[in-house]
Amino acid sequence: MKLSKNISESLELKFSKLARSMDKKNQIPYSLGLGEPNYFTPNFIIDEAYSAMKKGYTKYSSPIGDYILRKKISDKLKNINKIKTRPNDILISAGSKMSLYLVLLALIQPKDHVIYITPCYTSYLPQILLSESEVEVTAFKLDKAFEIDYSKLKREIKKNTKAILINFPHNPTGQILKKNDLFELEKILKVHKKCFLISDEIYMDNIFSKNKHLSPGSIQSISKRVITIGGFSKSFSMTGWRIGYSHANSEINSKMIKIQQHILTNVPLFIQKAAAQALTIKSNHLNKFNNLMNKNHNYAYKILSDNPFFSFNKSYGGFFIFLRIKKKITSDKFCTSLLKKYNVAVTPGKYFGKHFNNYIRISLSQEHQVFKNAIDLINKFAVLKK
Ligand SMILES: Cc1ncc(COP(=O)(O)O)c(C=O)c1O
Repeated sequence: MKLSKNISESLELKFSKLARSMDKKNQIPYSLGLGEPNYFTPNFIIDEAYSAMKKGYTKYSSPIGDYILRKKISDKLKNINKIKTRPNDILISAGSKMSLYLVLLALIQPKDHVIYITPCYTSYLPQILLSESEVEVTAFKLDKAFEIDYSKLKREIKKNTKAILINFPHNPTGQILKKNDLFELEKILKVHKKCFLISDEIYMDNIFSKNKHLSPGSIQSISKRVITIGGFSKSFSMTGWRIGYSHANSEINSKMIKIQQHILTNVPLFIQKAAAQALTIKSNHLNKFNNLMNKNHNYAYKILSDNPFFSFNKSYGGFFIFLRIKKKITSDKFCTSLLKKYNVAVTPGKYFGKHFNNYIRISLSQEHQVFKNAIDLINKFAVLKK
């Protein structure tokens, strides 16, 4: 297969080189760049993986995934996300990233059009381009309040639009879906009968405001054309275990299973057993982590929202704040100088789309005192730069 020319090498900013070399030397005490939880995988999950290995769950297994795990996920989607599902609609894969790629491979045909929302997770565009080299792609920009302007979105939809890819709670802006979003998305899919909605809900358990997570898959009238993606990385600090899942109608699901069978076979069964345990044992770790992110968010808001250097849009879920820089400095330059001067690492907005070079992403996943110190330093730095 020819790799599409449009797939850029991973974005090489000045900041990335500096951060890598400083990180190697342990010179970044204030890291607000992390896209993973700041705690270890809970012990009860590790113990279950070990015990499953001892029991012999170390051989090839079904490509669709362990039934017990699929049943647990289907119960969760039913009870919490209000999505009508059966275990057979769930496919376990190697991280939600792989789930998304399987969805795209199963769905997208030559000349199809895909719309994805920006700013966004860096792998979306490469994945779309890798799934089909003759795909037509539109990057749809959120408005200044980080909301979807539905009248604009409707204008982007064409006859060949096969999928709209969304992600809420959102990386990097921290926005979540509201009832009105579900209503608008339903209207769109009712008019465009060939269009699917791919909903990446990897941060579904990480709402730190008082709101509730809403899943478009819960809308009955369009549920057959909504594909929901979830995982264990962000909910159970299992980023390195590589396990995620998708929920799709049986036609798409069976295509995805065939593809997975030939490129992966299965996610290791002892990992699946551990993930099933993660969904079984009642644990307070998510509450604790979400409370920490809320506390960090409120502190950042208190300190940075008054600084004329920035424009602060509140976050509600996910792991991040996406802060707009109001002065004339690129995100790469800002992040590089901040790292050099104060050893604080935040992520340049340019990573999340070409229109976001005047933003920085701040991760809330950090111990409170370290976070506070880092925010104070960002504030001081921005005052110096004025
Ligand atoms: C929006 C989004 N989707 C998917 C992923 C990948 O998650 P996983 O570890 O389940 O592959 C990430 C990871 O940062 C993400 O931010």
